[in-house]
Amino acid sequence: MKEFLGAAIHIARQAGTVLLPFFERRVAVEYKGDVDLVTEADRASEKLIVDRLKTWFPDHAILAEESGSHRGNSAYRWYVDPLDGTTNFAHGFPVFAVSIALEKNGEIILGVVYDPTRDELFEAEKGGGARLNGKPLRVSNISRLEEALVATGFPSKKRHRNPNIHFYHQFNMRTHGVRRPGAAAIDLSYVAAGRLDGFWELNLNPWDVAAGMLLIEEAGGKITDLPGDKYLLDASSVVASNGLLHNQITDLFKEMLSGIYAADLPPVALPD
Ligand code: IPD
Ligand code: CA
Ligand code: CA
Repeated sequence: MKEFLGAAIHIARQAGTVLLPFFERRVAVEYKGDVDLVTEADRASEKLIVDRLKTWFPDHAILAEESGSHRGNSAYRWYVDPLDGTTNFAHGFPVFAVSIALEKNGEIILGVVYDPTRDELFEAEKGGGARLNGKPLRVSNISRLEEALVATGFPSKKRHRNPNIHFYHQFNMRTHGVRRPGAAAIDLSYVAAGRLDGFWELNLNPWDVAAGMLLIEEAGGKITDLPGDKYLLDASSVVASNGLLHNQITDLFKEMLSGIYAADLPPVALPD
């Protein structure tokens, strides 16, 4: 395990070194979908990560965002997001990360999220805790949703069919606020670090969540799908929290999905 974790940390840092010069000089954007962006930097980072993993662990399978599935011949599979937060990156907004996780027999056993602009490296190993730049990580101890700072994100595909803005509205009224930083791997790492108390999002991909999921669990938090069931990497929704707030968050989703707040939309021009 130490060998794999050491490799993941080394590769994530190297990928960060690849990303930074692209970030500083700004890169051209290409479109995978309406607002689904990809850049030269995503591809350069992914190439470095996949090449290294294949050289060091030729038997391991890999699922990487830009190049897809690479077959292996063992119990191990790597999940790679070479640049989480591409939209931020392309606009010069310094919130993005490299996310790498390793699964063995269907269970995530290590996760690394590296934010090169802050030089922050989040790491977790199954049963071995979570750390930020080598120091142990712990989720927050906020126990009331009214005192929580939470975050979410919005997908770049099928935007018009996504109900999340309605959920955002309800959470915004019931918490200290909702942040939308734009990089799910960072959102999850920040819950693990106690900088956020909760996070939810719909329609993420396995490479967005695999590393952050273990960070949350190893930092003492909880991660499920929106109804509150065990989180699986192909789930269509994710809720992560410090654990203390988890039921309050999933209960609010139950209320929202029952439609009781559907008529709450205020008029655009409010009287003085
Ligand atoms: C995106 C980011 C964003 C989330 C999107 C993801 P990408 O990943 O994590 O925060 O809201 O759903 O697709 O495309 O920048 O790797
Ligand atoms: Ca991503
Ligand atoms: Ca990405």
